[in-house]
This record gives sequence, C-alpha cells and structure tokens, in this order.
Amino acid sequence: MNDLVFQQCINPDCRQTYEVSQTTFLCQRCGSLLDIQYDWDRLTVPKSLSHFELKWQARRNPLDFSGVWRFRALFPFAPDDKIITVGEGQTLCLPSDSVAQFTGMNSGTVYLQYEGLNPSGSFKDNGMTAAFTHAHMIGASRAACASTGNTSASLALYCAVTKKMSGIVFIGSGKIAHGKLAQALDHGVLTLQILGDFDDAIARVQQVSRDLGIYLVNSINPFRLEGQKSIMYRVLESLAWVPPDWILVPGGNLGNCSAFAKAFHELYTLGLIPRIPRLAVINAAGANTFFQLVEVQKLSWNQGRYDQQKITSYYAHLDQTQLRAHTLASAIEINRPVNLPKALRALEICQGVVRAVDDTAILDAKAQVAAGGFGCEPASAASVAGLKLLREQGVIAPSDRVVCILTAHPLKDPSATIHYHLGDTDHYGRYANRPQTVANDLSEIIRTIQQK
Ligand code: F0G
Repeated sequence: MNDLVFQQCINPDCRQTYEVSQTTFLCQRCGSLLDIQYDWDRLTVPKSLSHFELKWQARRNPLDFSGVWRFRALFPFAPDDKIITVGEGQTLCLPSDSVAQFTGMNSGTVYLQYEGLNPSGSFKDNGMTAAFTHAHMIGASRAACASTGNTSASLALYCAVTKKMSGIVFIGSGKIAHGKLAQALDHGVLTLQILGDFDDAIARVQQVSRDLGIYLVNSINPFRLEGQKSIMYRVLESLAWVPPDWILVPGGNLGNCSAFAKAFHELYTLGLIPRIPRLAVINAAGANTFFQLVEVQKLSWNQGRYDQQKITSYYAHLDQTQLRAHTLASAIEINRPVNLPKALRALEICQGVVRAVDDTAILDAKAQVAAGGFGCEPASAASVAGLKLLREQGVIAPSDRVVCILTAHPLKDPSATIHYHLGDTDHYGRYANRPQTVANDLSEIIRTIQQK
C-alpha cells in the first residue's frame, strides 16, 4: 500500500484502511463512509497559506490555473500527469451590503461565495474534477451518478469536455430543474429518469454501479469531497487567509459541509489557520432530516459513536408516514443524505448548527441575492435565509464575519424565478418585480416609465 495516501473508515472502532485504488467507497468491514487520509509528516506541506499566492504567477500551467488543483498540496492523492481539469474553480467571494441589510447584519460583514461561476454552473465541478482524476488513475471508462440535477450536469460536462469516460445519470421523475436537465441532455450522457425521487435514484445507482463495475461520482465518493475542500481554500484566499466567523451552506446530501469541516480540521492541525470557523448547515423545511435529527432529537457525532438507532427510527418513520422530501429548492430535496455521519462529525469540528427554512424564506432570500448581486438558484439561497434566521435568533451577531456559499447559478432554475415574479404559485414573491404590460404606443410607454 502507498502509505502516504490511503482511504480510511471513519468509524473510530474500525479504522480499516484501503488502497487509493479501491472504488467501493464504503468500508467492507463495517459499512461506514471512508475518508482520504494523508501522512502529512512525510508530505511536503506549505508553511503558510500565502505560499499559494505563488501559483497566481504560474497560471499558464492548467493545474495552477484551476481553482481546485492550485491547492493540490492540501489533497495530494494524484500524480500531476493524471489530473483532469477543465479550468474549474474561477469563483468570486464578494461582500454584499444589500444581503447584510436584508439579514440584519452590519455593513461589510457578509460575503457571498459564487460557486455558480464554475463551468457547469455549480460547486459540483470542484468535486467532479477530483472524482474524474481518481477515475482516470484507476482506468475507469464509465461513470454514473444519481442527481437532483447539478451533479448530473457536472458529470455530463466533464464527460463531454475530457472524453475520458461515458456517463450515466439517474434522476427522479419531474424533480429536476430544466436548466440542469438541459445540460445533461445537451452534453449527451445516458439519462435515466427513474419513477421515483432522488432518494430512490441514489439507492439504485449504488446497486447498479456495484453490479456493473461503473465508477460512482456521487459525494459518497471521498475523492469528490477532497476537491470540494478547495471551496474553503478559495474563501480563505479571498479573505486574505483570515478565517471568517461563520460559513453558511445549504444541506442536501451533506457532502459540502463534510468537505468544508475536513478542510478546516486539516488546516488547523497543520498550523495553517489559527482557528476554525463555525458552520451553519441549512436544510429546506420540506427536506429537513438533518435538522430533525440534530436539533430536535439531539443526535451528535459523539466522537464517532453516534446513536444509529435514532437514524434508523427516523427513516422507519419516513417510511411509515410515506413522507417524501418536498421543496421548491429542488437541489436539496433529499430526505436520506448519504453523508449524514460525516456531517455530524463536521458539526463537532466546527461547533456547527443546523437550521431549516421554508420555501418562502428561500425564495425571498434568492430575490434579495439577485437584487444586489449575481444571483443564485433557490437551494443556494437557503444559506442566506439561514443567516437571516440565525441573526434573528441571536446565534450570529451583527458584527460576525460570515460567508454564505451560493452553490449554483441563477439560470439553473429559471422557472422558480419566473413563478416568484409573476405570482402564479403559492410562493409568489414579497420582492416580486412584475413585468408591466403596455400598449405598443409611444406616449403610453413614456407615461408608464415616468410613473415609476
Ligand atoms: N446546492 C445545490 C445547488 C446543489 O445542487 C446541492 C446538491 C446542494 C446545495 C447540497 O449540497 O449535497 O453537498 O449537501 N445537489 C446534489 C445533486 C444532490 O445531485 O446535484 P450537498
């Protein structure tokens, strides 16, 4: 075994290790999730994060241009000649005083991390480049995922651009925003619409990948999460390497929050940051398993000895009551998050909290993000709605420095935006900007403009 880098079971009573080349992504001894681990003492790690500024001068090298791979010293699982990049991670972290005002925060305290600027329009590309790289290292020729839309769009784009693998995507019926479905179809991957929802699709894709030996790129794949750590590196880079007080992130399958906490834990352990920011994971109210388990039933990581019975009973209750996830934030319409244990660990590492916000709060927050900035899709705005709630609850102080992760681009789900502004759903908006019909008549048009 290459003992500098290996996979390891997250269960403290097991800790079984696996080669980097292993692709089942679950511990074969106890069934737990796996982490990628590094023997940092024997690897070359920069002495300070400002070292990464040297990469800015090396942008002609695609690996140093990538907003993911320029940080590869912090997840060194792949040799340079195996890395597959399409130039992902050219994102921006910008202050937003209009969102600060909306959420009750002081001017200058709120930053928005725009992950929608990635090639496929969502944060998924940070992880997909890492999963594709691992797949390339082990010689995989087919990749699959289940998706609420963005993972499938990202997989489809990487297949089309790199020609390294063919892709198969599993999506729930009628559950995927049109912008995302359009991407999968346009990039030419095999798209299987399962008669069910995301929770059904992810169970199936795991069986199919196992049976047919297809490489799985969902966030159960720990290599994907290594790439997603880079979102936090770029946030730190934008803040001149000073950690913020809070990171707020929408919670769906709980891969992102797990990756962020791993990134901070490693940076802190390596002495590269002086403290770890707090983490707020925001569920949609109609898909609030994590909130229910953590905040209502008080489930905690408990150093890895968490109460599995609470999870089992909660899922049995979902089955008995036939409760399905339901939210207009379709990206996070998930009731059985595969990374739940890692997300519990993330809360312990980051003194995290979980909140649930309803669709009205999400869509209002989305409108406010777009009114003062580049915009985002509904699920992304859960982070901003969560900030407003946590401010109202007094958990976040108005002077805290916070970063809301805007996970995807506004054009992913134009229907949600149109419905909000045109008022033809129950969730039409408080901040609706309705188009005005005006006769094709010059004086009428001028009168309408002057009335505004
Ligand atoms: N925001 C967006 C825009 C997403 O697409 C997702 C997940 C999340 C947030 C939640 O992130 O799973 O790491 O907690 N989308 C997945 C998909 C499930 O299939 O595209 P998470």
